[in-house]
Amino acid sequence: MAVWRTRVGIVGAGPAGLLLGRLLELAGIDSVIVEHRSRDYVEKRVRAGLLEQGTVELLRDAGVADRLDRLAAVHTGFELRFVDEAVRLPFADLSGRAVWMYGQAEVVKDLIAARLGKAPLHFEARDVTVTDPENPVLRFELDGERVEVRCDVVVGCDGYHGVTRPSLPTSTVRTYRHTYPFAWLGVLVDAPPAIKELVYACHERGFSLYSMRSPEVSRLYLQVDPTDTLADWPDDRVWEELHTRLATGLGHELTEGPIIERGITAMRSFVSEPMGHHNVFLAGDAAHIVPPTAAKGLNLAMSDVRVLAEALADWFTKGDRSGLDGYTRTCLRRVWRAEEFSDWMTGLLHRFPDEQNMQFRFREARLRYLAGSQAAMTSFSENYVGSAAA
Ligand code: APR
Ligand code: PHB
Repeated sequence: MAVWRTRVGIVGAGPAGLLLGRLLELAGIDSVIVEHRSRDYVEKRVRAGLLEQGTVELLRDAGVADRLDRLAAVHTGFELRFVDEAVRLPFADLSGRAVWMYGQAEVVKDLIAARLGKAPLHFEARDVTVTDPENPVLRFELDGERVEVRCDVVVGCDGYHGVTRPSLPTSTVRTYRHTYPFAWLGVLVDAPPAIKELVYACHERGFSLYSMRSPEVSRLYLQVDPTDTLADWPDDRVWEELHTRLATGLGHELTEGPIIERGITAMRSFVSEPMGHHNVFLAGDAAHIVPPTAAKGLNLAMSDVRVLAEALADWFTKGDRSGLDGYTRTCLRRVWRAEEFSDWMTGLLHRFPDEQNMQFRFREARLRYLAGSQAAMTSFSENYVGSAAA
């Protein structure tokens, strides 16, 4: 068995784990990242693609935004469609902040390229375990050999299904959960987006979203039943439903093309409090999940690791543990704001299976108010771009 030693053991090479590794590297703090999937798998995994300005600035400060600045499209508004209306919501004018469209997989590729060959990053680690929160140890198997890494701190960036959160004593963690009665079917389409801005469409058959990844690739979502499988959604049905739900009587503007990737995502809200115990901390999806409607997941993950990297630097370089002690409190203010907004936006735009005709009309009235009131749009915009006071 090999025994290693590091300051920070990081479980998971998603955006949270990789960015934390990068920020620590810049602060001169060594870390080991352990990921159970292959490099190819994590680089191709299709997830969200909307970066808030704060996330972009953080990636720039970390020196990993060259490709992002060349390739990502800057968005300053989106279109909201419902019943017979199509209204532009100019969130950047109202909040002073834009968003960038750049796939999570691209962020992951940039972070991996910045680390490989420079600092430890191990893919395809098997049977990863975390033990002893006071003196944490990571154990796993790599190329058939058992490895033990003794760490000052372990950070679980291993997502909702990871092993770090369950390693904490259950008596110390309180969890909050909600599961929504619908899911999202997401398709990646090899066709140029026909429109420049996103379209959020609220239809009586359910929600749909027109998004994009690049000038060549469109990304579309449909609200589906949570029990549906991909077999329930052959291409013809996907396109028919998208045409129906995205139409407002103003024309279709939907360019069809080959579907190159598809997946169904469950919708849930989840928060773990606190976000750690002794010297084991949680960041990103390991600590909290939002429904994808407001695209907050990736941005929250990035914001957690910014706070954590600074707190770890204070501890290791000045012996000051106050940042680590306040980590949960600092992060959860923003997390709960985003949880509430994501839940609210989900409720506004989705058709609930048991929705009565009266509730449908209430949603319509809320949408008309949002679309017609400068005050409502401004409040929405602050939340959407991630600058709302928390
Ligand atoms: N051992 C090692 N690695 C693991 C383990 C394990 N037992 N379990 C999970 N992982 C890895 C996953 O394979 C994944 O690469 O942890 C990583 C977690 O990454 P993400 O799920 O992308 O989570 P995070 O980095 O917090 O980023 C949040 O991801 O889910 C989206 O919408 C969410 O965009 C948000 C972002
Ligand atoms: C996406 O492109 O994946 C996306 C964009 C905006 C959202 C959600 C997802 O609100």
